[in-house]
Amino acid sequence: MPDMLSDVPTANPAAPPVNTYDEVPYESHPFSQTHPSRLFVVGTLFGMRPTPVQRCRVLELGCAAGGNLIPMAEYLPDSEFVGVELSARQAREGQELVRQFGLKNIAIRHANIMDVDESYGLFDYVIVHGVFSWVPTRVQEKIFDICAKQLTPNGVAYVSYNTYPGWHMRGMIRDMMRYHSSRFNTPQLRTQQARALLDFLAQSVRQEGNAYAALLKQELETLRHQADHYLYHEHLEEVNDPLYFYQFAERAKAKGLKYLGEARVGTMVTGNFGPDIEKTLKILATDQIQAEQYMDFLRNRMFRETILCLDRVQPVWAVNPECLRVLHVASAAKPIGPDGQPIPSVNLTSEQENISYKGPSGMTMATTRPLLKAAMKVLADATPGTVPFDLLRKQARELVGGGDPTDPKLIAEDTQVLAVGLLNCYMGSDLIELHGMPITFARQAGPKPVALPLARFQAQRGQTATNRRHEVVRLNDLDKHLLPLLDGTNDRDALVEKLTQVAVSGALNVQKDGLTLYEPKEIRAALKSVIDPALANIARLALLIQ
Ligand SMILES: C[S@@+](CC[C@H](N)C(=O)[O-])C[C@H]1O[C@@H](n2cnc3c(N)ncnc32)[C@H](O)[C@@H]1O
Repeated sequence: MPDMLSDVPTANPAAPPVNTYDEVPYESHPFSQTHPSRLFVVGTLFGMRPTPVQRCRVLELGCAAGGNLIPMAEYLPDSEFVGVELSARQAREGQELVRQFGLKNIAIRHANIMDVDESYGLFDYVIVHGVFSWVPTRVQEKIFDICAKQLTPNGVAYVSYNTYPGWHMRGMIRDMMRYHSSRFNTPQLRTQQARALLDFLAQSVRQEGNAYAALLKQELETLRHQADHYLYHEHLEEVNDPLYFYQFAERAKAKGLKYLGEARVGTMVTGNFGPDIEKTLKILATDQIQAEQYMDFLRNRMFRETILCLDRVQPVWAVNPECLRVLHVASAAKPIGPDGQPIPSVNLTSEQENISYKGPSGMTMATTRPLLKAAMKVLADATPGTVPFDLLRKQARELVGGGDPTDPKLIAEDTQVLAVGLLNCYMGSDLIELHGMPITFARQAGPKPVALPLARFQAQRGQTATNRRHEVVRLNDLDKHLLPLLDGTNDRDALVEKLTQVAVSGALNVQKDGLTLYEPKEIRAALKSVIDPALANIARLALLIQ
């Protein structure tokens, strides 16, 4: 941490650059919640019939270097993607990647959002992530205009933004960081100094029980885990204009758009606050927008990922469980015992035994219903992949037994029971994922394994890769060197040999009993013993095609 009291410049700050994203590029990553597959789910749940994602047109405004859009285009060859990015440097980087991968279904345009017009055509999905709060009002209005004029009738738009009341507190921290950092000349110094100021304040304002000290500490903790490029653009940029949710909804409505929901649908459910609060919210709020505004007050919400549709669409807020039949389900939850530890097996036929399931974030849910327990087993076996709802219902019934799985009456009953159970779980926790398309990947490494081309490329350049679930996967050193070799030409012996060469060159540290190995023979033997588990792990991360 730099000393904030040394280094204070005497000169005036340099004039701001024309485009700060040219100077400090934003690391361009995938965001699974923006994927058309997830937007399809929100539309479907609320009574729309969005365009199937396997054949759709997608527009992303402020797409940076295409880290979100390019993996979508790679996975969905029959869909078409257009990205718009003001920073020449980031747009060029994205265009270069598109060219290198020979992708014909995506164009990243170096252009201003203000210049998007009808020549771009209509889109089934519009994505605007991390842009709205950071652009001037006229660009915000243009974003609404584009959504209103260029969405297809069943089109769905995702717009994320900073919101009040949460940003009042964060904005106070931002003001202090901006005041201090504006005295320094380079983005790097400004970022360092912003962190140093927060550190200084958190250490100095220390009294126990002091709300201000607690706030500073919490902000410091949050920012400690955030990358410099994020801190710079989120906190030190000139424009960052949060607004209340009701203001966002009103402005969208004035442009001919309607609030459809949130990317994280569970945050829309008043029942998640418990019966007493739900009762009061029902009295206070006469519509969904008011209910959500009051929930933002309760949560001190800072950020929203709002889904919009055209004004003429009539959302149906009471979700019809039948709609799950067009969706795909996933879950990484595991059954746990009373001590909270995973249990190896579950009695699927007992209607008395209440089984709890725990997801990766620690949330839990419990059920006595055999069909739901069986479905959780099918999903656990398929994780991190998806299972189409109808197949899930069929396989769950086969596990439970007790009837002919092809009997239409039983199918109708099972569909209802399972859909309601899964929906309750989806709305009340993060244990169940719903997708608008299947997520397919190789669950086991073949004789000559093949990893996703983009992930191979990313592994050569850094420590992260994008997987089939449209997530960022952090790679350990072995995976980083192994992934680029998985191009279908290397069997296990060849992989061990090539990795041995990498280790001998010093680029990969291979250890045994905590000691680094230098002898090629010893390195080879050590790698031979880990190659299968390493490949199994890469398959589990949804990075393999074959
Ligand atoms: C905070 S970054 C977010 C990038 C990306 N969407 C993400 O979430 O990682 C905002 C992006 O919007 C771009 N941008 C800002 N104003 C723009 C405009 N008027 N036209 C096109 N792009 C713009 C910036 O250059 C930058 O790449």
